[in-house]
Amino acid sequence: MDNLQSVIDYYEQYGQGHVFEYWDTLDVSSRQQLLGQAQNIDLAEIKKLVDIHVLSESKEAIDYAQLSPAPYIPHYQKGGDSMLWAQARELGNDALASGKVAAFTVAGGQGTRLGYNGPKGTYPVSPVTKASLFEIFAAKLKHAEKAYGSPFYWFIMTSLVNHQQTEDFFKKHQYFGLKDENVRLFTQGLMPAVDFEGKMIMESKSKVAMSPDGHGGSLRALNRSGSIDLMKDQGIEILSYWQVDNPLVKFIDPYFVGFHVQKGSEMSSKMIPKAYPKEKVGHFCMYQDNMVVVEYSDLPDEYQEQTDAEGELSFKAGSVAIHMFDVDFIKRMGGEDSNESLPFHKAVKKVPQLTAAGTTEKPSEPNGVKFEMFVFDALPHAKNPVVIEANREDDFSPVKNAEGVDSPESCERDQLKMFARWLLAAGESIAVDETGLPAIKIEIDPSFAYDEQSFVEAWTDLDEKPEIVDGLVIR
Ligand code: UTP
Repeated sequence: MDNLQSVIDYYEQYGQGHVFEYWDTLDVSSRQQLLGQAQNIDLAEIKKLVDIHVLSESKEAIDYAQLSPAPYIPHYQKGGDSMLWAQARELGNDALASGKVAAFTVAGGQGTRLGYNGPKGTYPVSPVTKASLFEIFAAKLKHAEKAYGSPFYWFIMTSLVNHQQTEDFFKKHQYFGLKDENVRLFTQGLMPAVDFEGKMIMESKSKVAMSPDGHGGSLRALNRSGSIDLMKDQGIEILSYWQVDNPLVKFIDPYFVGFHVQKGSEMSSKMIPKAYPKEKVGHFCMYQDNMVVVEYSDLPDEYQEQTDAEGELSFKAGSVAIHMFDVDFIKRMGGEDSNESLPFHKAVKKVPQLTAAGTTEKPSEPNGVKFEMFVFDALPHAKNPVVIEANREDDFSPVKNAEGVDSPESCERDQLKMFARWLLAAGESIAVDETGLPAIKIEIDPSFAYDEQSFVEAWTDLDEKPEIVDGLVIR
């Protein structure tokens, strides 16, 4: 009871006493739920965020005159130095073979734009077998295991909202043939949503509306979950980071690992040139001597559209959320006693809310603010950050929206084009249209080949090559 009273006092002191409004009407388990939740919310942190983001609009202004495009290493197929890339590949292969690299997927998001009922990683995306995103990544890891001679750890961040379903999915599919002890699921942190007066929104009488704290929450969560300690024990020094919605990603990429190692970088990133000036991606920039990512929504049109002497976009390096992190850097950024934590951003959203009738309803208009951290905000804190150019068609085709741009349909097309390119590179003939899209649906299992080069090698080695027909699955 003393404990309860002190929690209620704490909430009243911060103007959030309404959280306990229905306490007297709750049964024992509902009371436990509410008290447990309330004890885990840092009200001082919430007050600070409300003051900055809700009650005032004191967003730190960027002095755009000080912004310049960030340097990057051009791809060897696009005018970059082939020798440099070859050296990086060798270094990367050594690091990958020595067990210093682990894989890391952020999969805690709610996937609201896709509108799929379940963890996004369980969404079926491949053209023929309809393999899920998780299955595709697992197959890529199996390929890497074969290539480098030992298994890789795969860390996956979920959120409380989808953790159980994600774990059940892996169990049901026997971890897609990976060793279950190498697949490490852990949950990220949650943050309460507040209304436009800064009051925490109640989802029900015994539940504060909480949501995942953003992909930037991964740095804290990796520390809190003990994942960093495990990596230290296992001699893992580098973490290859990607988002769950991108089946094309080459996350075991010796070139990328190699540049990261060669430059002594704490955080490296892949960039792809923007497809058009106002493509909705972040921009790699330099600002006051630091590398930063400026979101498309924050960069004025004139900068998004600015061109250089050759007529190329000046700010062309788009961020596709593919990074390498030093484990020590994550420890520094995400540890409890860190002075260098990531800032929170606000997102105005429709938050399901307790109604006067005692039910929970999602409003038709935004009613509140969620707080999220973005992982790229770690960039200005990193020593020697490196950006390398990647080919969009080999690395990036996310499933974000239910239709149109970055949808299951566009992603399927991009996979088909990639498989057709690989077959053509291996000397096969396959009819494609002017965009490179084949007329038939085919699929190459990532455990058979990981990229064009490995496909050409594996295909050449096949004694009996299957006929290239609609529905062919090469595995
Ligand atoms: P998005 O920004 O695309 O968000 O996340 P989302 O939640 O998946 O989709 P929408 O915006 O609701 O439609 C990019 C990546 O970051 C992960 C997602 O799972 C995805 O891999 N993420 C996002 C987290 O892991 N946690 C979060 O809190 C937010």
